[in-house]
Amino acid sequence: MTQAITEVRDGEDVEHADLLRFITCGSVDDGKSTLIGRLLYESKLLYSDQLAALTADSKRHGTRGADLDFALLVDGLAAEREQGITIDVAHRFFATERRRFIVADTPGHEQYTRNMVTGASTADAAVILLDARKGLLTQTRRHTHVVALLGIRHVVLAVNKLDLVGYSKAVFDEISAEYRAFAAALGIGDVACIPVSAVEGANVVARSERTPWYEGPTLVEWLESVEVDDGASTGPARLLVQWVNRPDDTFRGFSGRVVRGTLRRGERVRVLPGGHESTVERIVTMDGDREQAVSGHSVTVVLADEVDVSRGSVLAALEAPAEVADAFQAHLVWMDEHEMLPGRRYLAKFGARTTGFTAEHPKYRIDVDTQAHLPAKTVRLNEICVANLHIDRPVAFEPYRACRDLGSFIVLDPLSNRTVGAGMIDFATRRTANLRWQALTVDKRARGVRNGHRPCVVWFTGLSGAGKSTIADLVEKALHAEGAHTFLLDGDNVRHGLNSDLGFTDADRVENIRRIAEVSALMVDAGLIVLVSFISPFRAERALARSLVESGEFCEVHVDTPLEVAERRDPKGLYAKARRGELANFTGIDSPYEVPRDAEVRLDTTAMSAEQAAEAVLAKLREMRVLGNY
Ligand code: ADX
Repeated sequence: MTQAITEVRDGEDVEHADLLRFITCGSVDDGKSTLIGRLLYESKLLYSDQLAALTADSKRHGTRGADLDFALLVDGLAAEREQGITIDVAHRFFATERRRFIVADTPGHEQYTRNMVTGASTADAAVILLDARKGLLTQTRRHTHVVALLGIRHVVLAVNKLDLVGYSKAVFDEISAEYRAFAAALGIGDVACIPVSAVEGANVVARSERTPWYEGPTLVEWLESVEVDDGASTGPARLLVQWVNRPDDTFRGFSGRVVRGTLRRGERVRVLPGGHESTVERIVTMDGDREQAVSGHSVTVVLADEVDVSRGSVLAALEAPAEVADAFQAHLVWMDEHEMLPGRRYLAKFGARTTGFTAEHPKYRIDVDTQAHLPAKTVRLNEICVANLHIDRPVAFEPYRACRDLGSFIVLDPLSNRTVGAGMIDFATRRTANLRWQALTVDKRARGVRNGHRPCVVWFTGLSGAGKSTIADLVEKALHAEGAHTFLLDGDNVRHGLNSDLGFTDADRVENIRRIAEVSALMVDAGLIVLVSFISPFRAERALARSLVESGEFCEVHVDTPLEVAERRDPKGLYAKARRGELANFTGIDSPYEVPRDAEVRLDTTAMSAEQAAEAVLAKLREMRVLGNY
């Protein structure tokens, strides 16, 4: 989301006041393309070659006889743009005498939340379109809900295709009343309803004679008169630093955008999240120095002191600085086919800062049709939930409703770097200032020295029935005989106690392994050699376990037994059960196993005995200097 904001705003240097950004929501069936085409055409900003192409195309493929088919125009533009951009949102520019416009057109297919969030994150207003014959549909409610959630304060309902219901005032009145009540319940302050026929051009740009009973503005008049002030210009100043501008030794400025309030020369500021104080000495722009910069302006700030400022820092008014925290409650919109799994580590991008990110179990999921709060264990594609989350490094933030730029973040998959979600911060749940790491005198090393070996985790992973527990048991026996202090955590055993609340869904396995990773890290601190024997099917959680201890303290052992072999052995009869359909989510059958790529040891159990396998692990531990000479 925040990325989208800079993408668009960096591109043009436009003053905020005479520009309106809006988003359109609705499907092609509702006449959206026709409506946008009509806006572009009647505001006379189409390029002449586009018009020529449109006339030719309309004759050939159009559905409207000799008239121009505006849907063709928009679809053509969309195709053009899609080649150059990865997100499915097309930004189009047009202007009237009174204002310039950027419209974000978001296709309404199944990835609609992703597109809407991307389009709406920068929008001041939304045009929601519906078909007068159909009235308010689930989709209308959904779009309105997302628009409200994203903090858009001005919404217009274009009741389209009114020509097909004989320009009926009764139909329009009924739809408007229902919509106003719905929007009011969502807390949208400014709602307008306009009777429209995009095909006939009624009340889009020109007023229609067919609706003498309607006295409100046409769609363009409404768009021209929306007050863009979204509240960001009020409140204490915040500047989001995008880069440190240092052309030579004599100049050091911080370039970025004022995202809230007004920053003034001479103002005292705090640099966040670090906390240093300084004074704004100069506000530099292309046109020379200024006395102040208001929200929306991109400027370069020179501070009076040599303080530590970097990309992603926030300069905040000293008398009311932004909060700094590493735990929040947030609304999360999920945009990926793979569900969001609580406890799994993702990355969160706050403006220019990226940090590790984990969400807890959702408190609830929002049913965007009814606004009901539903229980949820994960968050799936297009779903919206409220959850507590944690990030690795504290960031400066504002609640989303106070400031969209400092209150939003995107979620990335750390392995693929794909955008998988977006979040809006409600409030901090923990201030970092209140928690300190406790320094302890008797540490891991002291315990290791007394035990005569280095503490470490030996992590066995592999299919059920692969032989993990048998081999781990042999390794522990040998270590014990050598006098090492060991502990064996075994999946089946731990699932009877600590993890007895967990089953075998992906989400439960993530939590299962997350807990075991934490427990094994604690045991390493306690000076033990911890043997862990879990299927642990996901790379992400095995990587988490590795990250919780120091390098050289983690030995991943892939007990590599092919599925056919494990299934033939079937020591507990579980494969047979799974094949009969009596056991769901069985690893290797209908639940995935992600083969390790960087295991320290790979054991081919078809080519060696359990004793040989155990010996191979012990040899590796000697090589890693876990044993001997510590
Ligand atoms: S993990 O995937 O979360 O790491 P874990 O190692 O704790 O699994 O538990 C696996 C053990 O649970 C298996 O050895 C098997 O005995 C038992 N089990 C019961 N149901 C399943 C299932 N659906 N998939 C895999 N193992 C199962």
